[in-house]
Amino acid sequence: MRPDISPFRATWLLSVLLLALSIISSLSHAQTQPPSYQPRPGFLSTSAYIDGQTMYVLGGFGGDDSLMAQMFSIDLSKSWSTSSPAYKRMADGITDARFTSVLLPNNKDWFVISNSTVYLYNIPSGTWSTVGKYNTLSTSHGLSAAVDPENGKVYIPNGYVFSKGGGGPVELMVYSTSDKTVQHNIMTSNLVQVINFSVVWASTLKGLLLFGGSVINTPNTRSDLYFYSPESGWKLLTPRGDIPTARRLACFVPAYGGTKMVLFGGQGDPVPPAQNGNAQNDIYILDVATLTWTRGPDIGNNGGRAGHVCAISNEQLISWGGLGNDASSDNNTFVYNLKTSSWTTEYIGTSGSSSTNLVPIIAGSIGGVVLVALLVGGFIFYRRKKAKEQAVKSIRLSKPYISNPTPFEYNQYSPQSPPHSRPQSQEQQYQRQQQRQQQHNSYYNDLPSEEEYYLPQQHPSQSYNSHGQSYDQNDYSYDDYNNYTSPNESYYRQNNQTAHNPYRHR
Ligand SMILES: *[C@@H]1O[C@H](CO)[C@@H](O)[C@H](O)[C@H]1NC(C)=O
Ligand SMILES: *[C@@H]1O[C@H](CO)[C@@H](O)[C@H](O)[C@H]1NC(C)=O
Ligand SMILES: *[C@@H]1O[C@H](CO)[C@@H](O)[C@H](O)[C@H]1NC(C)=O
Repeated sequence: MRPDISPFRATWLLSVLLLALSIISSLSHAQTQPPSYQPRPGFLSTSAYIDGQTMYVLGGFGGDDSLMAQMFSIDLSKSWSTSSPAYKRMADGITDARFTSVLLPNNKDWFVISNSTVYLYNIPSGTWSTVGKYNTLSTSHGLSAAVDPENGKVYIPNGYVFSKGGGGPVELMVYSTSDKTVQHNIMTSNLVQVINFSVVWASTLKGLLLFGGSVINTPNTRSDLYFYSPESGWKLLTPRGDIPTARRLACFVPAYGGTKMVLFGGQGDPVPPAQNGNAQNDIYILDVATLTWTRGPDIGNNGGRAGHVCAISNEQLISWGGLGNDASSDNNTFVYNLKTSSWTTEYIGTSGSSSTNLVPIIAGSIGGVVLVALLVGGFIFYRRKKAKEQAVKSIRLSKPYISNPTPFEYNQYSPQSPPHSRPQSQEQQYQRQQQRQQQHNSYYNDLPSEEEYYLPQQHPSQSYNSHGQSYDQNDYSYDDYNNYTSPNESYYRQNNQTAHNPYRHR
């Protein structure tokens, strides 16, 4: 006996059933969705980011130690967990590692130097253009850049060579984005042979800060903090607080409008018999106004990084890639919350929590179900007049009408590289380290010859202490060279800074 079901009642029951089914299937769809794009693990990549929007990562050495052209982004507007950052694949870019790049102040053009050629990657259009090849641009790897947001000038310490291979001084490269010209300015003699340092533009000081690095082709790392201003030249600073140990290839990024700088990781001095230093697992915040370092909690040994790339977004540090002390953790993404001073597995985006992703699914489900219910309801009405039995079949018909909302972005590319395989035994791990070292050695051998680095004979330089806080040389003794004269204090007086200002020249 068939119970008499009114069309309205049937429609209502069906709607409830379909809604429940649809939400369940959407939720399970969200969970069983194939993993989205995963970048190849990498180290010595280069990066750019826009706070609250996107982080871009280019190139580097892949997990199998080959050079990559890989390019991808991490969405910084969404919230995500460090086990599945909001990656998105981009078309391949330039094949290189530990090369120079900086995002220009328009937040659209990514300035990238590889092999002395200046490229621009236009983010909105996703296109590369070649600005030109400049023979006075160093081909060295391990040179970091900073840009003055007020005039678009790009500064690369040790980035300018007078004549390639012909010897002569190496200076500060100054690139003007407006007229596309390369100029040069003096380096402090103490940084002449230093590479693999980190630089950041300090907006509040209208100058750049340079931390650490190592003497070219040696593992001797440094902990010096320098300030350079186009108006007053170079200055070795004497910071206070918990001063970071010597390191190279550290992340050094501005936070809170450049009033604080965050230093994370880097490669420390080797502890014999090791040839290379350990990846550091510590984080420090520099208060720019008082020049005081504060140390945060260590990330733990597994999170030690060198040659990683970082961003600051929504008051969090995001670190991707790099070399860890444990080769099995190459591609990890880490997040440090500056507000809570703690490492966390959840990045908090600017557009709310990731669970809001379920809202469009459920909304879509309800919309789809209402539509289906209306169609089914109408259909039942129509069919009931002709043949009651047909109404049951219409339930099956309804199924294809359920729209399947996919608010997630599917990766439209398939991974092109085989999964990164890891050596298992200690012997294999050792061999891998050796291969890496050889790769690094051969890769970095294309640096300018030592003669290309000018060693001022007249000055008692190169006697640095790698932990050099007591370092006390006159940075401004280049009077015999390029008519360079000691900067005076007028700049600071103009800026109403007191004699206690740590940036003040001696
Ligand atoms: C790291 O890379 C491996 C293989 O490439 C991948 O299976 C894994 O999910 C990645 N992990 C993270 C946190 O990205
Ligand atoms: C760099 O440029 C020079 C001259 O244009 C070229 O001969 C050389 O092969 C390039 N090196 C690399 C690593 O691309
Ligand atoms: C920069 O650091 C890397 C990684 O430790 C190292 O292999 C390379 O030799 C360094 N570059 C120079 C020129 O010393």
